[in-house]
Amino acid sequence: MSAFALRNISKSYGANSILNDVSIEAEEGEFIALVGPSGCGKSTLLRIAAGLDHGDTGSIWMGDREITAIHPADRNVAMVFQSYALYPHLTAEQNIAVPLAMRNLSTLQRMPFLGRFVSGRRTAQAGIKQQVLTTATSLQIDHLLDRKPGQMSGGQRQRVALARALVRQPGVFLMDEPLSNLDANLRVHTRAEIVDLHRRAGVPTIYVTHDQSEALSMADRVAVMMGGKVLQFDSPASIYDDPRHIEVAKFVGSPRINIINAITSENGAVILAGKTVAEGVTGPVGTPIQLAIRPERIKLRSASAKGIAATISRLEFLGSEVLVATHVAGTEDDLVVKAVPADIAHLAAGAPVTLQIDKDACLIFGQDGLRVPMRTPTRIAVDA
Ligand SMILES: Nc1ncnc2c1ncn2[C@@H]1O[C@H](COP(=O)(O)OP(=O)(O)OP(=O)(O)O)[C@@H](O)[C@H]1O
Ligand SMILES: [Mg+2]
Repeated sequence: MSAFALRNISKSYGANSILNDVSIEAEEGEFIALVGPSGCGKSTLLRIAAGLDHGDTGSIWMGDREITAIHPADRNVAMVFQSYALYPHLTAEQNIAVPLAMRNLSTLQRMPFLGRFVSGRRTAQAGIKQQVLTTATSLQIDHLLDRKPGQMSGGQRQRVALARALVRQPGVFLMDEPLSNLDANLRVHTRAEIVDLHRRAGVPTIYVTHDQSEALSMADRVAVMMGGKVLQFDSPASIYDDPRHIEVAKFVGSPRINIINAITSENGAVILAGKTVAEGVTGPVGTPIQLAIRPERIKLRSASAKGIAATISRLEFLGSEVLVATHVAGTEDDLVVKAVPADIAHLAAGAPVTLQIDKDACLIFGQDGLRVPMRTPTRIAVDA
């Protein structure tokens, strides 16, 4: 049984179908990333999970308890939004303390004047102060606790909002692009901070992002969503190495996976520039397919080596690596190869080279975008 589950959620606005039978679940302590392009329905799904919106069909579960009809305040979920949603008249410390005060103090104890005379308030408040400080310190905002949102930068406000969600132990964390307003450096730092806090708290988390590298690096499992459908829900390694749909293959990885249109030959072979790069593709001879190869799975060799003849069309130096765009006669788009600087010493645009493709590196997709089953494991025979 999962700690938190969204089952068969569908949602339409008028005639527009936004979510189409979406199911995602998180095990105890699991970090799930929900990733997809803008407008695919990520925020809609998260709002439904939090109870801020309702699906047309489907159910939401916390363990074995169905919470589909439960009021958001009673769901025991903590949500961080794309926008910070802080109380402008409260300091950072007071903002972070809100969920704790709601839980740990009675209505009477929370009253500004009367509350002072209610027993136990001072001890409870000291405990809250300590918890706020611990969370603020781990997010490096302890020096900002006296400031109001108007006196903080966007990134600082976002961290206060994160601290407010992280300060208590909810049944599930729902985070909707919580890092979208941070600059690149702070983003990477806060990413690690969130993963760290998650490991310590062990609360199942659904983290929405449109950044595939963020999803792959942070999550235990990744749900790739497009057009209101989950195309694949899998470990980061499986999403990257074993995509079930060409859109998943294209969405993850930078630079983008190479795609070549081809047709199958005898024995389900796929031939590129006269060399067999895959065998055993099921279906009749002449079936149009799409061959996908990750840039780091192609090796760049000297022109005299055995393999696929190509010409360098462009070099892009990135420091520790170089992206080499190469042209293979008879293909439309350049094949991008991820190489190291030593591989391209003395090479320039226009130079002839040889490409060698890793065994098992070719992923074959059909016209419908789905992976084509193979009769035998793909065998690469580029230097045959
Ligand atoms: N209240 C609404 N009424 C009508 N359409 C809506 C409503 N809310 C969202 N939509 C539409 O639903 C689709 C999904 O929106 P959603 O905000 O869930 O996307 P998203 O994946 O979070 O995108 P982004 O990455 O840009 O935040 C969009 O096409 C959006 O225009
Ligand atoms: Mg969104």
